[in-house]
Formats: sequence, structure tokens, C-alpha cells
Amino acid sequence: MKIFVKTLTKALFLLVTSISFAKAQQKNELTLIPQPSSVTWGTATFKFDKQTTLLLPKGDEHTALIKNFSEQLSGILKQQVKTNTKTSGKNFIQFSINKDLGNEAYKLQVTKQKIEISAAKPSGWFYGWQTLMQIARLNLLNGNSHQIPEVTITDEPKFAWRGLMIDVSRHFFDTAVLKRYIDQMSKYKLNVLHLHLTDNQGWRIEIKQLPKLTSVGAWRVPRTGYWSGMPAPEPGEATTYGGFYSQDDIKELVRYASTRFVDIVPEVDLPGHSLAFVASYPEVSCTKTPQQVLAGDPWNAKRTNVVCVGNDSTYTKIDQIIGELAEIFPSKYIHIGGDEVTRNYWSNCKVCQKRIQDEGLKNVDELQSYFINRVAKIVKAKGKTPIGWYETLEKGLDTGIVQMSWKDEKGAVKSSNEGHKVILTPAFLTYLDFYQGDPYLENAPFTVNRLSNSYKFNPLPEGINVKNVLGGQGSLWTEQVPNERKLQFMTWPRGLTLAENLWSAAPKPTWPIFLKKIESHLPLLTLDSTNYSAYFYDPIVFAKKGDNGDIVLTIDTEVPNIAVHYAFDDTDPDQFYPKYKGQAIAIPKGAKNIRMVSYRGDTQKSRIVKLPIAELKRRAKL
Ligand code: ACM
Ligand code: ZN
Repeated sequence: MKIFVKTLTKALFLLVTSISFAKAQQKNELTLIPQPSSVTWGTATFKFDKQTTLLLPKGDEHTALIKNFSEQLSGILKQQVKTNTKTSGKNFIQFSINKDLGNEAYKLQVTKQKIEISAAKPSGWFYGWQTLMQIARLNLLNGNSHQIPEVTITDEPKFAWRGLMIDVSRHFFDTAVLKRYIDQMSKYKLNVLHLHLTDNQGWRIEIKQLPKLTSVGAWRVPRTGYWSGMPAPEPGEATTYGGFYSQDDIKELVRYASTRFVDIVPEVDLPGHSLAFVASYPEVSCTKTPQQVLAGDPWNAKRTNVVCVGNDSTYTKIDQIIGELAEIFPSKYIHIGGDEVTRNYWSNCKVCQKRIQDEGLKNVDELQSYFINRVAKIVKAKGKTPIGWYETLEKGLDTGIVQMSWKDEKGAVKSSNEGHKVILTPAFLTYLDFYQGDPYLENAPFTVNRLSNSYKFNPLPEGINVKNVLGGQGSLWTEQVPNERKLQFMTWPRGLTLAENLWSAAPKPTWPIFLKKIESHLPLLTLDSTNYSAYFYDPIVFAKKGDNGDIVLTIDTEVPNIAVHYAFDDTDPDQFYPKYKGQAIAIPKGAKNIRMVSYRGDTQKSRIVKLPIAELKRRAKL
């Protein structure tokens, strides 16, 4: 009997512990972003205490990296974590070399006694460390700040290019902002920061041989408002808004980024998007007329924003620019733009027309390819690999030019099969300037890319030549991104879907499961003082003409199983208001607005989304 009771107790104990272990396991499985290739949780726990040490690997070259790790961990644990060259045999974190692993791969092993991160390269240690810190920080939020559950993780990225682009021309962001951005992106194993350094609204990089690019081209009149319809400069108005990176700024930024294994890739956008270049040196345009850097949309303003591609002196300046970029940016790549060129300037230019004749070209489209090939040669002569926006893929282009495919995925499929390396940033899935909520409520110029939509990004669309895919990126154009908080807001949480899609080789979780993971990471963004959009909780309303000519509304959400409450009487709804039941709703006579809100249980999840009935009628074409 006694033995029976003991056995029963033991069995019960095992049952209870295995249930709670399964729960813990499930919880942890859910939380890592991006999902590692393989994760096996155990039952023991490693506990940090005042004696826990980071063991320095052999060779001084790694000391700075490990000291960075120890500082980060000290911040999380709120206590000093030491580094040492030897251990007492337990309670340490060790970094070892495993040459069998891939370039950025790592193995993270947590036992009761020690934590080991093995990798072939320090970048692997870095990514293993990011995974460990995610577990530590999620545990901190769960109230288990000094514990790491026993686990074995093996992991490596699916793609080498896991990028984010910031347009620093439309609005300027100084290096302090970029460093904070790098910190955040690298926590999610994103590893390329593409800087769109030049455009019609400002030239942002010091070129010593061409000082007017920054003394003139980096500055414009200050304006706040909407991209289209920004008031033009007044005669004689001071150009006080702007800024640029000195070459020393870039050297420091590159050094900082390298400690987080982020490659900074520079872009000068040529031959279009070049108003700042033309304003600085009017002789590079076909018309040679004086121009001003603009605050808003230059196309509506009809400014010459294209360089003359017939004139050899244009290439002399481009050679100087590329030469200096190649010196200060250690990246293998230089992006030369190539998008959205208004070619009619060339049609009306004698020099450009002569170039077409001399080179035996058919038209201005072939002149574009001539220009891109010629600039690509300059890039290669400086020892770098050129990248161009997808439109650079016109006829007769050199296969040594990497295609950054932006309009849709078809461009990438086509280029990859024509022998070009490709980077995918299809606008409708990965553009971060596109708004995340209802267009009526957003100060964003273009179209929508909601969080759930961004998760659909597949860097390997059907028909693509897989071996030519370098990876993909999210691209943040900043026409209406005037400050750092908005920069973060547009990036997160969509940056999490990018990280998952670009790093994780594990089976892709369904949207509801990934959404749960995102929700568990939002407090980490808050912990980092990083702004993010919670508009994915917003009710989404659709307006349609009903059978009797009336307008009927339906409501949807990106989040499954969330309640939407609404009001037509211009009061703010809460969870006691009418709940949307999935059927079309009629608009009461006299109503001016619909107001909607989402709730999970008693917790308000969305803002109040208020839309005028007149706007909905417009959408229903009534
Ligand atoms: C682009 O969006 N013009 C590359
Ligand atoms: Zn010309």
C-alpha cells in the first residue's frame, strides 16, 4: 500500500511537472523571433548570479565583442556581469569555435551548469547571443529575470541579405538615430542597413571633391505637411532644414554597425531623383538651369531632377562620388539607383541625342541602360558590386548588376532567371512607408501594407532562380516620416515579419500563431523605448452599395477572435456597445460617423477608429 501511494504520488508529480513543462515549452516555442531552425527545451534551469562570468575566447580580437555582451547582460540583469579568461568549472557563458557550422550559424546550449554558444565566426556568436538575450528578456517580463531554461538551439539564416532601407534624403536622420535603429534591427538578426543617401529633397553625404553637394544640396526650406501640395520655396527664403553625414560620421557609424554585424550599404540615386545634385551643380542637367532642393513632390513642381547622361563631365563627377563612397563604406556593395527616370529631358537634349547616335542606341530607354552600364563599370573599377532598382533591368544590361526588385515579385523572378543576383523588396508587401491603418486616418502618401499583409512576403516566389536570391528587405521612404518616433512606428512591428521571413528556415507559422509571437514581443520594444504601430488591432470597415441602393458596411480585423464594438451616434464605444456580429450593418438615418473599437475580453486593444459616413459613401461609389 505504502509503495502504491508512493508510486501514485510520484506518477502524479511527474504528470504535473510534465504538464507544466509542456506549458513552459509551448510558451518558449511561441516567443522566439525569428524562429530558430531547431529548438529542444529541457527541464533544468541555468541561474544567473553575481558569480556568473562571460568566458573570453582566446585572442584579443574578440574581447570588445564579449565586453559588449557583458554590458548588455548587465543592463538586463541590473547587476554587473564580469568577463574572465578562466572559470571555476560552472556558472559561466562560453564562446567556442565550431568550423562545421555555416557563416552566420550558431548552436546555443543551455544546461544547469553553463551556457555555450558555438559558431564558426563571431557573427554566429552574435546571433546566438541575440537568441539568448531574447529568452532572458522575455523571462524578465515573465518575472523570472535571472533564469534561462535548459535548451539546445541550432540555427542559421535562410538569406544573407536581411535588410532595412532608410531614405535619409526626404528627411534627415542623424547618426545617433541610425545607431538606435541598428541596435533594434540587429536584435532581430537583420543585418543590412541600406541608406538612400540622395534624392530630390537632399544630398546627405560629404563628397570632399564636390563640396556644393552638401553646402547647397543638403539644405532646403523648412516645411511641415503633406508630400503633395507642400508650399514651394519663397523667393530668397533661407534653406535651413537638412543636414548631412561627414565622412568621419560615416566611419564612426560603420564601426558601430560592424559591432552588431550590420553592413551599411550606400545608395546614390542616379540618373533620376537627382534634384539635389542638379541644384548643387546645375551643369550636370540637360537644361543647366538653376534649381532648388525641394521639400515636396518634384514631379508636380516640374523640376529638372535628372542628370544629362550624354555629357562626359557628368561621369567625371559620378566617378569622384563613387570613388569617395568606396573609400568610406567598407560594404562590398554600392547602390546606384536607376528608378523613376523622366526621360523626356534626354529627348530634348542635343548632347543626349548625340550620345544615342554615337553609341548606336535606339532611343532614350537604351540610353538609360547605357548610363547604368557605364556607372556600374565605375563602381566595379573601385572594387565594388553595383546594385540598381529593378528598372535598371532594361535591355542589354550587364549581369554583374544586382537587381533590387521593388515594383512586384515578377521583376525578381525575371532578373534571377536572366542571371542577375536579386534582392526582393516588393512594394505591396515590404514597403514601410505604406500605411498600417485606414488611409483616411493616416498621414502617408501612398497605399496600404498592413501587418498581416507584410507577413505574406515570400522571398522565394514561384519561378525564381533560388541560387540568385541574396535576400530581401523592408524599405522605408520618408516623405512623411519627419522624426525618429515615426521612423520606429513605421518599422515595427512589420520589422518582425521581415526578420521571420528573411531569417527563419523553420516551417512558417500560420498568421494567428505568428501574431501571438508578435504580441509577446511588443513589451520588448517598449522596454527598448522603441515606438511601434498597434493599428493591427484596428477594426477595418468595408463599404458597399446594397441591393436597395443603400450603403452597407461590414467589419473585419487582422486579429482573430477579437470583438468589435461600434457606434453611429458620435459617442466613443466601449465593450458595452453593440458588438459586430459578422453581418452587414445598415447606417441609421442622420448618422455622420461610424466609431469602432476592438476589445479582447475587457481590455481595449485598438484606438477608436472614426470614419465619416461621407467618406464611406465615396468608397462605395455612392
Ligand atoms: C522606388 O520606390 N522608387 C524604388
Ligand atoms: Zn542631356
